[in-house]
Amino acid sequence: AFRNKLTFFAAAKSSSSFPPPELPEIAFAGRSNVGKSSLLNALTRQWGIVRTSDKPGLTQTINFFNLGSKLCLVDLPGYGFAYAKEEVKDAWEELVKEYVSTRVGLKRVCLLIDTKWGMKPRDHELINLMERSQTKYQIVLTKTDMIFPIDVARHAMQIEESLKANKSVVQPLMMVSSKSGAGIRSLRTVLSKIARL
Ligand code: GTP
Ligand code: MG
Repeated sequence: AFRNKLTFFAAAKSSSSFPPPELPEIAFAGRSNVGKSSLLNALTRQWGIVRTSDKPGLTQTINFFNLGSKLCLVDLPGYGFAYAKEEVKDAWEELVKEYVSTRVGLKRVCLLIDTKWGMKPRDHELINLMERSQTKYQIVLTKTDMIFPIDVARHAMQIEESLKANKSVVQPLMMVSSKSGAGIRSLRTVLSKIARL
């Protein structure tokens, strides 16, 4: 499934420019710099198609990538990027919220959380929205190479516990490092099943 060729399909700055939903979609959401674009690269093992950057806020449009003719992977712009102008920031958030709550064919949102920082108010906001719109989502802890495994496990337990009463969350939470490759195969397996690939 994830061996299929990854090609850029479309970029959208507003909901009117979303491409027609032709394939099942899996979207990657989370704060700026959490590692969304890097995870797409690691999952597909196709570097250079999805751009990454150490400057937060690189991805400013919703970018749609087709994986062969099976699946569409969607790189969402990050939220909580402190350097962006206030009105630009709000526009991104509205765009992400609209996509996540209304998109036809959206099978799963991977909500990425930086292991080191944990969940922030903006993450909870998005979670509440997905609960209201009954959008299936799962938590993916990123950059697990940055802290001790025991701390990763502690953070994971805390987050799972805090989401226990939620209805649209898909457990268990996954833990990955795009840098070391840890957890990438497991996530690939989970995501492949969604689209019955
Ligand atoms: P925006 O597009 O700004 O929302 O950011 P993003 O979430 O797409 O983050 P991106 O993938 O561009 O990565 C941000 C920074 O984190 C880059 O410098 C990456 O090299 C780094 N990074 C991503 N994944 C990992 C990881 O697993 N481990 C470590 N140590 N660094 C990572
Ligand atoms: Mg990005």
